[in-house]
Amino acid sequence: MAASDRILPNLWQPAERSPLEELVYASNLLGSDPRITNFGGGNTSVKDRQADPLSGQLVDVLWVKGSGGDLGTATSASFASLYLSKVLSLEERYRSGMDEDEIVHLYRHCVFNVNPAAPSIDTPLHAFVPFAAVSHMHSDAVIALAASEDAEALTKSVFGGRMGFLPWKRPGLELGLMLRDLIRDNPDIDSALLASHGFICWADTWERCYEITLDLINLAQSFIDNSTGRAHPFGVQRMQERATRGAVVDLLPRLRGAVCHEGQKLIAQVDDSDVVLDFLSREEMPRLAVMGTSCPDHFLRTKIRPMVFRLGDDLEARLAEFRGDYSAYYQRCKAPDSPPIRNMNPSVVLVPGLGMISFGRNVQEARVTGMFYRNAIEVTRGAETVSRYMALPEQEAFNIEYWQLEEAKLRRMPPEKELSRHVALITGAASGIGRATALKMVELGASVVLLDLDGKRVAALAEEIDTSAGIKGVALPLPCDVTKTDELKKAFEDAVLAFGGIDIVVANAGTARRGTVADTSDTDYQLMSDLLMRGYFDTIAHGTNMMLRQSTGGSIVVVASKNGVAAGSNAALYSAAKAFELHLMRCTALDHAKHGIRCNAINPDGVVQGSGIWNDSWKEQTARSLGISPEEIIEHYRKRSLLGRSVTPEDCAEAICWLASERRSSRTTGTVITVDGGNKEGFLR
Ligand code: NAI
Repeated sequence: MAASDRILPNLWQPAERSPLEELVYASNLLGSDPRITNFGGGNTSVKDRQADPLSGQLVDVLWVKGSGGDLGTATSASFASLYLSKVLSLEERYRSGMDEDEIVHLYRHCVFNVNPAAPSIDTPLHAFVPFAAVSHMHSDAVIALAASEDAEALTKSVFGGRMGFLPWKRPGLELGLMLRDLIRDNPDIDSALLASHGFICWADTWERCYEITLDLINLAQSFIDNSTGRAHPFGVQRMQERATRGAVVDLLPRLRGAVCHEGQKLIAQVDDSDVVLDFLSREEMPRLAVMGTSCPDHFLRTKIRPMVFRLGDDLEARLAEFRGDYSAYYQRCKAPDSPPIRNMNPSVVLVPGLGMISFGRNVQEARVTGMFYRNAIEVTRGAETVSRYMALPEQEAFNIEYWQLEEAKLRRMPPEKELSRHVALITGAASGIGRATALKMVELGASVVLLDLDGKRVAALAEEIDTSAGIKGVALPLPCDVTKTDELKKAFEDAVLAFGGIDIVVANAGTARRGTVADTSDTDYQLMSDLLMRGYFDTIAHGTNMMLRQSTGGSIVVVASKNGVAAGSNAALYSAAKAFELHLMRCTALDHAKHGIRCNAINPDGVVQGSGIWNDSWKEQTARSLGISPEEIIEHYRKRSLLGRSVTPEDCAEAICWLASERRSSRTTGTVITVDGGNKEGFLR
């Protein structure tokens, strides 16, 4: 990127806005540019006078970003409101010996107008600044200076006298008081650098505060860009061959399985951008990677340091070493009241020639973890360009990672959805039972891989899913003919590249043909055997192999049919193929139970509404053989069922999800659930 492209433009549009509206507007502008602040990082505030709902008198109110929100998408509901005087009075409690963490619990007693938004941990940083508008950003360019060995000297030379300097201090009341004193003693400053953290600036209005924020970031960026210190901040480049697709597909499921902790799987995302590959190919990368990340926001996601893994290394040995180091770090730094040690596995793995692999509970979290490490690379690059990168001292990093308040935040998180952390691959996902299953699985928290002959429909479904889930890339559409061995193999590999592995496979793609054994054509024979036998066999085989490589078990669900147990008239090959599927399911269950891989089936019947199989010609043929009109088909099947109920794709999806879910059916394998409204002939014994 050319240096001039890095200069942030002023996008402010003046308009009539209330102080809160001005705060939301400014926050959205700042939060939508990753050069200004990272995702979910930074916070903003405004001080305003409002009528107290109880007394009617005007009081000073602090509007400050709520805990955990993202500035780019913030609305007025994202901001907490507090009586400023009450927040300021907390100084007395602190002086009288109250612990920082206990003080945080008192913020709730300062809330103005019963606003439910939880105030940010940085609330005192905003409250004690005697200006209306306050902006605290995590910009890579400024953090680079904040994470440099000589951060204080750099603050002076880059920003002149306008920016003060505060040494590293964990966020809290003490930091707020330090800032207040700094401003009192240096009335000309408009900002302060918070070492190893970020910066904060202020003004009487938000328009001016926005300008100052951009000015400071631009100054830092220009300083880094114009620095001539070192030929390359990360050292010389080492020859590094690009990893082959085969090598990536081989590593990802093994790695994903190995970082699974106490049965808690993770979703992987791969970043093989030029920026990442370049960093990984440099001589200094191993030294810098071991030093770890700096800004607290970064390492809460990325862990204190990533794991460096070279293709060809022994994965288990490298992981054992990493876990050993992590455990030693925990033992060195823990206090008597520290929360218990968490997952010792890396959440970021750096593989030269391949890229960065980041993990999270879902696609979004894995992606954000990766983004944070990208931030860390940029911070390190800037710091090594102008000085020497300096990570946060280990003990301080630990105190943040195992902070009781962070632990409480983790405990407060809503329970995870049933299929969260799971990847499900569904064949024939564009229509009927497959489509309903995909929608239900995403509702239950899964990431889904949608295979179908009809590429357009499956792409539209993926878009619909991403939009309703509010997560880009939670559904991966793959046009694929499951009867073509190469296409199916490639689709499984694409799924691995997108999410790291597969936990659930639903073998479902199918169609039907009428015919007795005497009049089934060669073409129909070929189609039925390719699709319902070979297609199902290959799907189950690829799924099983993937699960074996992950070593974390899995669930395969076969969508068979009532016809698989009860001979369907004039559908000889279809019925026989469905019986084949059922028996293949049983054999898979038998062979792979020892690997924790479960295999079950559902037997639907008469799923007329929403099914592509029940097209006009199939309806007509069926109606003819039943001696009724095509319009009477739905009613015929409803009445034929013991329960007198029609069966829908959604009914099938419920049963499939039950079998897929480890939480619900972990003791079930080799069985069949009927979803046919009750049919005596379909009873299993
Ligand atoms: P559907 O026609 O609505 O959906 C099947 C999907 O599979 C379609 O999107 C189609 O494009 C896709 N597909 C077909 N051939 C493919 C291929 N070679 N490669 C990739 N995708 C392919 O049908 P429905 O009803 O949802 O059927 C799903 C499964 O349920 C089938 O295996 C069927 O035998 C079984 N079933 C259906 C019953 C029903 O009454 N609808 C009853 C019993 C079983």
